[in-house]
Amino acid sequence: MSVAVVIPAAGSGKRFGGDLPKQYIVLAGIPVLARTLMAFEQAACVQAIVVAAHPDYAAQVQNMAEQYGISKLCACVPGGTERQHSIVNALAVEAVRACDIVLVHDAVRPFVDEVLINAVVAAARTFGAAIPGLVPKDTIKEVDAANSIVCTHHRAMLRAVQTPQGFRRELLDTAYQRAGAEEFLGTDDASVVERAGHTVHVVDGREENIKITTPVDMKLAELLLAAGQPDF
Ligand code: CTP
Ligand code: MG
Repeated sequence: MSVAVVIPAAGSGKRFGGDLPKQYIVLAGIPVLARTLMAFEQAACVQAIVVAAHPDYAAQVQNMAEQYGISKLCACVPGGTERQHSIVNALAVEAVRACDIVLVHDAVRPFVDEVLINAVVAAARTFGAAIPGLVPKDTIKEVDAANSIVCTHHRAMLRAVQTPQGFRRELLDTAYQRAGAEEFLGTDDASVVERAGHTVHVVDGREENIKITTPVDMKLAELLLAAGQPDF
């Protein structure tokens, strides 16, 4: 069974701030997106990579692929206004349609590794839908509109979820078609599949698999690299 990965990279990074979207920022000598692409280039189970990017950066993505030897990059499609629209554009690419399993991975999680990719792919094959998650370290409270606590959730039953999220392609396609028809916007791919009525399995995530969301996360990424995260 063949595997494609879709990498949404069309965000503008509002929470990060600055003019250059965070996925193009150079992190210890290599752009964040290039690090992410290299992780999937090196993962033996992945055959095809499709990036969704803002058209202004399409040439930069192609140059990056050349410079860092990303031979699996099949297409760079235009992103949409929401992450979900970027994914839908990428799912239409022929190289993705030819695969049985589709992974979706944020461009801004450069520390994904082959062990995690393999675990998600294996579970997606077994369960149809699988995502990595970690038990939150913080206690999570639910609040109302006035910021008063409504309840405290049992931490052991909570998961802070990551990407790559893996699905049988037909299942993901159907779920996104349904979400489009119902104008549902999910915060991750699993929520779209959950809404379509399919059970999603959670595998163990990796603490190092951080999402660069704010400048503090970029500092953390620099520290992880200095401490010996695989550097390409
Ligand atoms: N993304 C995308 N298309 C969008 C919005 C987001 O492809 N319209 C991508 C981002 O580039 C990123 C991933 O989805 O790789 C996760 O999104 P997030 O961390 O929220 O990035 P941004 O949307 O860029 O940041 P913010 O929400 O702070 O604006
Ligand atoms: Mg966003």
